[in-house]
Amino acid sequence: MKKHAVLFVCLGNICRSPLGEGILKAEVEARGVSELFEIDSCGTSSYHAGELPHPESREVAKLNGISLKGQRSRALEDADYERFDIMIAMDRDNLRGIRSHPKASAVKSFCLREYDSASNGDLDVPDPYYVGGFQGVFDIIQRSSRVFLDELLADGS
Ligand code: 4NP
Repeated sequence: MKKHAVLFVCLGNICRSPLGEGILKAEVEARGVSELFEIDSCGTSSYHAGELPHPESREVAKLNGISLKGQRSRALEDADYERFDIMIAMDRDNLRGIRSHPKASAVKSFCLREYDSASNGDLDVPDPYYVGGFQGVFDIIQRSSRVFLDELLADGS
């Protein structure tokens, strides 16, 4: 089966995309397909480069049995467009950032909530940095990532 290199992208790479990375890693592990995947996360900004995930992302991950071990914030970089075949944006601003790169057409990019049947048409994972709501954000990311993975593995290509 084909290998997949998946990059989760948000703004700061401290709140939402670290959860995407941790959740998808746990899902592929649980399904016994981790050798088929490379999974990472980054931000469209370097505001928090080098920092650990946000304390509340670490807390909600721990409460839900997800490891964010080894994660440090970093910015999206040119080499990511060679290294990854799928980039998953947490909101439409992040998607615009991903697609503004000259090499963007080499990569499949979309908003995570395209895989959320409970999105009510809202493609943005809310940004909890200012307003909180980390458990709700966790739930959106987990249920969307599971559907994304279901479809990717069912596709078989
Ligand atoms: P994230 O949240 O994009 O989910 O990591 C944010 C983190 C930091 C900032 C904004 C959003 N900030 O403006 O520093």
